[in-house]
Amino acid sequence: MTTGQAVPDDGSAVHTTADFVVVANRLPVDLERLPDGSTRWKRSPGGLVTALEPILRANRGAWVGWAGVADAELDPIVEDDLVLHSVPLSAQEIADYYEGFSNATLWPLYHDVIVRPEYRREWWNAYVEVNRRFAEAAAHAAAEGATVWVQDYQLQLVPKMLRMLRPDLTIGFFLHIPFPPVELFMQMPWRTEIVEGLLGADLIGFHLPGGAQNFLYLARRLAGHQTSRGTVGVRSKLGVVQVGFRTVRVGAFPISIASGELDEQARSRTVRARAKTIRKELGNPKHVLLGVDRLDYTKGIDVRLDALHELLAEGRVDPADTVMVQLATPSRERVDSYVQMRGEIEMMVSRINGEYAEVGRPVVHYIHRPVPRDELIAFFAAADVMLVTPLRDGMNLVAKEYVACRSDLGGALVLSEFTGAAAELRHAFLCNPHDLENVKDAMEAALTVPREDGRKRMRALRRQVLTHDVDRWARSFLDALSHSGAAGPALITPGENHGPR
Ligand code: ADP
Ligand code: F6P
Repeated sequence: MTTGQAVPDDGSAVHTTADFVVVANRLPVDLERLPDGSTRWKRSPGGLVTALEPILRANRGAWVGWAGVADAELDPIVEDDLVLHSVPLSAQEIADYYEGFSNATLWPLYHDVIVRPEYRREWWNAYVEVNRRFAEAAAHAAAEGATVWVQDYQLQLVPKMLRMLRPDLTIGFFLHIPFPPVELFMQMPWRTEIVEGLLGADLIGFHLPGGAQNFLYLARRLAGHQTSRGTVGVRSKLGVVQVGFRTVRVGAFPISIASGELDEQARSRTVRARAKTIRKELGNPKHVLLGVDRLDYTKGIDVRLDALHELLAEGRVDPADTVMVQLATPSRERVDSYVQMRGEIEMMVSRINGEYAEVGRPVVHYIHRPVPRDELIAFFAAADVMLVTPLRDGMNLVAKEYVACRSDLGGALVLSEFTGAAAELRHAFLCNPHDLENVKDAMEAALTVPREDGRKRMRALRRQVLTHDVDRWARSFLDALSHSGAAGPALITPGENHGPR
């Protein structure tokens, strides 16, 4: 995959266009403005960046996204053959498009209305306007006949807008969060516009077949198109929507992680030594429980704290030999529901510690900041039980990361049935996060699993995660995309041996 030089019509500055362009709300790095006025780049939060960055680097393409702060007017940045195009957002647009429509309307609606979605016209107007700007930036970054891969719920109108600007492009769209049940989606005042926006793509991908089926039904009901269902399973036929002369394909593509790489990193001597030190720093307890999440109400951090609290109260967990570590990356800190949830979680942590900690020996260690990647891997290697208890999650990469880090076949995964990952990780200790007794039982079973049973489960989990990695995900999506629409060039995934360039 190459990037090329193109001279804009007005003959001004030369700019670079790419054959492969990813468009996502965020760039893979966030610009941070420090108190002394200087700036630095840091890794962006979330699973989307974890999954996509290695693929884009292998393709030497372009990434169009927001730099994470207001009014960042930046020239394209070239980093390791990856060209980053920043889309500037004003403070008002961040409030209305990102915090408002994306994260106080779409996010709760698509996550089973755990929090009540707010429908405000001014947020919708900003969403339309910002989606238009992303579409224009993508049109500018893409070479003639390029493949453009649009990501996630923040940009659902981009496929149609981009097709109108650049009919020569092959356009894919992937949704990283759940696609809701039809009856919930129907709440959305701008439901037809969203369905039509997505239908600008040649291929629309969801994590699970259920999401693809819901979308096909809505394309028929709301937009009046003919559809055929396919079987929308992972390896089976894709669903089809006939949009005039165009055929839009729809299917399930469960995302994953760079599992081989992670496995290797976790085997390193430094990580293993650090894992030992972490356990020592925690007081060498018999059991270490771990949670790793963005601080988000969908993640069920409250559920696992509640469960731990009751297990302690019932004497089923002993505070003298058990600690829990909760690593929580700050997220969407100005959205009301996040502010409220943070307060509740911090209260629960202090209540558990107030009741069960000793001086110098807290039961729950809570870290509210992102942890460097190496350190995170060492935490995965150190934990006896990984707690992944979302009320709803499109996939949950953390569950897969934990498994990839356990080549020792140690550790046990407690996993909510309401994550996309549960469809693949059937040998985890599955639980229903709405049923506290069930969560407690799963945690207790994971804490007390006999060694051989635990190893057997972990072996089966690892087989799944190591054979279904992010390369395979990208390859299956991009292969299907290259057989759609204006048939773009074959793309490289990071695992491929593409020789010298
Ligand atoms: P989401 O995309 O909703 O944030 P995922 O579980 O799919 O959820 O992906 C989260 C990504 O962010 C994972 O790669 C995970 O390792 C990383 N991550 C989550 N919490 C932390 C943390 N406290 N510190 C560092 N990285 C984190
Ligand atoms: O997958 C959900 C998602 O919104 C991604 O788009 C993003 O990687 C992640 O969560 C982090 O969210 P935000 O960009 O709002 O911090």
